[in-house]
Amino acid sequence: MSFNKEIARRRTFGIISHPDAGKTTLTEKLLLFGGAIQEAGAVKSHKIKKGATSDFMEIERQRGISVATSVLAFNYQNKKINILDTPGHKDFAEDTFRTLTAVDSVIVVIDVAKGVEEQTEKLVEVCRMRNIPMIVFINKLDREGKDAFDLLDEVEQKLGLKVCPMSFPIGMGYDFQGIYNLWERNIRLFGEDNKQRISETIEFEDLTHPDLEKHIGEKAASSLRGDIELVSEVYPNFDQQAYTNGTLQPVFFGSALNNFGVKELLDCFIEIAPPPRPKTSEERVVLPEEEKFSGFVFKIHANMDPKHRDRLAFIKIVSGTFKRNTPYLHVRHNKKLKFSSPNAFFAEKKEIVDESFPGDIVGLHDTGNFKIGDTLTEGEKIHFKGIPSFSPEHFRYINNADPLKSKQLAKGIDQLMDEGVAQLFVLEINNRKAIGTVGALQFEVIQYRLEHEYGASCSYENLNVHKACWVAPEDTSNAEYKDFLRVKSKFLARDKQGQLVFFADSMFSLQMTQQKYPSIRFHATSEF
Ligand code: G4P
Repeated sequence: MSFNKEIARRRTFGIISHPDAGKTTLTEKLLLFGGAIQEAGAVKSHKIKKGATSDFMEIERQRGISVATSVLAFNYQNKKINILDTPGHKDFAEDTFRTLTAVDSVIVVIDVAKGVEEQTEKLVEVCRMRNIPMIVFINKLDREGKDAFDLLDEVEQKLGLKVCPMSFPIGMGYDFQGIYNLWERNIRLFGEDNKQRISETIEFEDLTHPDLEKHIGEKAASSLRGDIELVSEVYPNFDQQAYTNGTLQPVFFGSALNNFGVKELLDCFIEIAPPPRPKTSEERVVLPEEEKFSGFVFKIHANMDPKHRDRLAFIKIVSGTFKRNTPYLHVRHNKKLKFSSPNAFFAEKKEIVDESFPGDIVGLHDTGNFKIGDTLTEGEKIHFKGIPSFSPEHFRYINNADPLKSKQLAKGIDQLMDEGVAQLFVLEINNRKAIGTVGALQFEVIQYRLEHEYGASCSYENLNVHKACWVAPEDTSNAEYKDFLRVKSKFLARDKQGQLVFFADSMFSLQMTQQKYPSIRFHATSEF
């Protein structure tokens, strides 16, 4: 197959949702359609179970599963589909944000009863900022939930999206009969005996046809006609360009558990979802069709086997063909590296491959060379943009609890930060190290992993910080900036890249500081 055809057939995407909306179930059903797994239940959910905060075996088990499910690839109708796993747990939200830099589109799963939830809002906001094409799947229609139109309103208002229904439910919960597919103009009905089976697909170009009553009954027929009329009056028609630009979001209804509406979603997805997209680097825009290879690291999994310091760096291929045993430039180190056993992913297995194409993810064994955001190329010095750090939510000083192991501690902290587990800051005033995390759970994970993987022990001390803001002065030589550096010296730190960060201890103090120093900008992310 030609290089361009290989690119055109790839669909690399992520499924995002609030925990429990049905992401794992939907993933599994997609894999079943692709023939990548044979039975339901094969994809293990790696949700951190409630109350498992202190259960480190559980954390380790989850880490094991999450390597296996980091990329789930399968073929469907001659398309190569790569699903990138995104942890739903809010403490691992930053992992998900980073994974979103490697997807070309996303599917957002929403629970019909719960509607738009907190985590969905945050993740969709990141996708919106990046104009990532999104399809919405409203799940669990076999249960009683919110009215379909109310939900569409909620999706528009809370998520700031412009929706375009591609399917519409016929009834809901106990009365759920099936789906009207606006995309293909047909009706798909559930089996009468139970809701596990699709009984029939009926082509229905014209909903006014009296046969509609025969299939779904008088009441449902009249409400469906009314609903579809309203849909056509209120919502725009599907527009490929608007979807690809991230300004229009198709919506599907269904029930992942009952495998209902999933095939409609998948069949439409492979038609409309974009193949690998161009990626912006600091120097220029890189097109997938370019002959020369380039890619970037968006995820690192380390030390799965504590006896071997093995790390797997996940690279998204942006352009060209990635070949085994070929020297590539590690741009940050300005050093050539060769990879003898790059892993590609297929369903839940990984295997060594000779060639991979744009859109694909390869897992490279790494002995500590990589950190998140690193670029690999055939020689050109480019730096891909778009992996910012976000202000952490929790902060603590980290202390060495065993003076004989200070080297191990430093190495452990360094590597865990490269992996993106948390962010390290060094206070300007006293050089003390502080760790910032998105969730409280990470502090325990760090302590546990430092001990088990590096033989180091640490203790924490409270640090009252509300937000870490990256400081961007208009002019580093003006008196205002100098005054800021002097007055706030106790609250200043450097991140791992050496960028200056202001630790605001409350929202109020941040606002006061902003007012007092109008020529300085305070950013909630490291990229601005
Ligand atoms: P997540 O990955 O988004 O966190 O959600 P997951 O797929 O694990 O689904 C969360 C729960 O919702 C699961 O039940 C799952 O079976 C259920 N579910 C998913 N899709 C549907 C659907 O279409 N209809 C209904 N009624 N339920 C659905 P659980 O009891 O938490 O787990 P399990 O014991 O069934 O695995």
